[in-house]
Amino acid sequence: MERELKILTFGAPVLREKATPVEDINGALKETIEKMADLMYKVKGLGLAANQVGIPKRFFIMDISQREGRPLLEVYINPVILSAEGVTEYEEGCLSIPGYYAKVERFARLFVKAYDLEGREFERELTGLHAIAFQHEFDHLEGVLFVDRLSPLKKTLFQKWWKKHAPTK
Ligand code: NI
Repeated sequence: MERELKILTFGAPVLREKATPVEDINGALKETIEKMADLMYKVKGLGLAANQVGIPKRFFIMDISQREGRPLLEVYINPVILSAEGVTEYEEGCLSIPGYYAKVERFARLFVKAYDLEGREFERELTGLHAIAFQHEFDHLEGVLFVDRLSPLKKTLFQKWWKKHAPTK
């Protein structure tokens, strides 16, 4: 895949598609993930899902350690949430909705499984920001954005905000 990746913003139809499973973990996928990571680090995002760059497949990357100056890229391919518990809240943002932040309720603790870039299945327990970021990215794969999780009033306010602030092409 030679083309340049670009982050799509709110309103792009692919952000509303339910992504389909990755069937082959190969060199092309690795190359795409490297490009996604370059892009994510460039704009200092915590995570980036494939459909945000126009690929409706079930994988995403995240790195919640970069802010402490020690980047640790995590790759989740065909992720599954095995169990979830507790409640937490965090002011979330999204690279597809640049400039907008709002508090969203999430599970505080997750057990997940996924495949890594070598095609190995792994299980992991996630808590805190780690769990929050995972749920945000997992939502992307379901065609869900964090603003969908706001109250009806806040959704209306967001719509107004977006009309003013949507990036022009
Ligand atoms: Ni996002």
